[in-house]
Amino acid sequence: MTMLDNVRQTMRRDQVWPFLIEKQPPNIDVSHNVILYVEGLSVSFDGFQALNDLNLYVNDGELRCLIGANGAGKTTLMDVITGKTQADSGDVYFGQTIDLLGKDEAEIAQLGIGRKFQKPTVFEAQSVFSNLELAMKANRGILPTLLAQLSAAQFDRIDEVLETIGLKEQRLMLAGALSHGQKQWLEIGMLLIADPRLLLIDEPVAGMTAQETERTAELLTSLAGEHTVVVVEHDMEFVRSIAKTVTVLHQGSVLAEGSMQEIQNDPAVIEVYLGESD
Ligand SMILES: Nc1ncnc2c1ncn2[C@@H]1O[C@H](COP(=O)(O)OP(=O)(O)OP(=O)(O)O)[C@@H](O)[C@H]1O
Ligand SMILES: [Mg+2]
Repeated sequence: MTMLDNVRQTMRRDQVWPFLIEKQPPNIDVSHNVILYVEGLSVSFDGFQALNDLNLYVNDGELRCLIGANGAGKTTLMDVITGKTQADSGDVYFGQTIDLLGKDEAEIAQLGIGRKFQKPTVFEAQSVFSNLELAMKANRGILPTLLAQLSAAQFDRIDEVLETIGLKEQRLMLAGALSHGQKQWLEIGMLLIADPRLLLIDEPVAGMTAQETERTAELLTSLAGEHTVVVVEHDMEFVRSIAKTVTVLHQGSVLAEGSMQEIQNDPAVIEVYLGESD
């Protein structure tokens, strides 16, 4: 085949190339209003039981806070949900039908589950806009990154995300020049580009100023509803300001669950957790 034939072949209107197809997230069956089921989940590391028969149910569109002392298993739980750590036993379902255990990290991300680690990992030498552009292209696979210009719709989507994370004015700034809080928001924005159904966010306000913390509370509150958000945080003031339902983990299991008011008055919680830190 000559080069020209190759080009003709590629341009054929009747052929749809897989790398040019926008990836569509699958339909998640939330007919029971629950988007995440964790049942009887156990994980051990060299005999140490990090998660111990843990049960957790998160409703679609909910903003759920997970609290618990250091080592309670909060990050490990996120690691299992996102395919980073293997479970020993138990079930994790995304909606009614999608079994997450046994899927790898890339497959789980593709299903619409976004994960934010504690430390911001933005591309410091790129502008805020470029970071979001890269996130968008990464979401669509490798080949379009090299070939495609952003479509008008994709530009609009980036603008929309810039607005949501409050970095419109910083769009041309290098990410490395942002404050710590702004970097965290940018990274949340990079997750939002893919429009995930479920966002798992580990200790977002650690190291933030009081003002940044307040702004983050507003941001996460605004994301709930359209997205389901699970936040791990030690900052109780922050948790108090955003949480409707709080789940307390202790030694790899759920110790208590309820409104902030309820768990604050729960004797077991007071004894093992709040009593120590408040
Ligand atoms: N990969 C691993 N190998 C061995 N032990 C691990 C591993 N990951 C976690 N652990 C252990 O499992 C326990 C739970 O850790 P995890 O990181 O889930 O706690 P956490 O609730 O997130 O705590 P923190 O609030 O300090 O972040 C800890 O005792 C930790 O040392
Ligand atoms: Mg942790």
